[in-house]
Amino acid sequence: MPRIDVLTLFPRMLDGFLAESILGKGLERELLSVCVHDLRAWTTDKHRTADDRPFGGGEGMVLKPEPVFAAIEQLQTPGCRRIYLTPDGVPLTPAIAASLSRESHLVLLSGHYEGIDQRIRDSVIDLELSIGDYVLTNGTLAAAVVIDALSRFIPGVLGEEKSLTHESFTGKLLDFPQYTRPAEFRGMSVPEVLLSGNHAEIEKWRAARSLEKTRTVRPDLLK
Ligand code: ADE
Repeated sequence: MPRIDVLTLFPRMLDGFLAESILGKGLERELLSVCVHDLRAWTTDKHRTADDRPFGGGEGMVLKPEPVFAAIEQLQTPGCRRIYLTPDGVPLTPAIAASLSRESHLVLLSGHYEGIDQRIRDSVIDLELSIGDYVLTNGTLAAAVVIDALSRFIPGVLGEEKSLTHESFTGKLLDFPQYTRPAEFRGMSVPEVLLSGNHAEIEKWRAARSLEKTRTVRPDLLK
């Protein structure tokens, strides 16, 4: 069972995320365990200072090394992977999510919007991950995204194992459209072929729609 420790200045941002939905059930069934820690617990001054002004000048504040080193040194275990969430990290891919799902222990460090002391990255971080080319106010939601993405690769977290293989990106094409009852709704009907019971025809139709959708929305995936 993968154990995940999250280090953040905003621990409450993860409350709802961890309680709800498929992930909440996975936690309940102990298919993975997630522990969220407030970085300020490792500060030592009366004001619980976690950041300071950058040497060399410039805007904003920088996460101090002392509380982060102390936290990671306390939480880390032999062989664990220490990951820093940052927009200048390696882009998260399904392959990375799958490989993280097979680790026994992850420590996820959520960054500060303006950055963290480089010595943290040099000494107590093994991997830097980005969830996309946009900048969040801090890495806590990025940590949630990584947990969600990897949890889908843990056997038993998704109800039906097969729903994994059929989805976008695992097969390099985007999803085909899905329909459920009623067959007619506000004058819009479900494509006839899906009601036909002809599985070969249904597969053919789905493959064609996937290809068409990928061509329009993500032609880069076809190159
Ligand atoms: N922190 C802020 N923006 C981020 C991003 N895009 N990915 C990972 N961590 C982040």
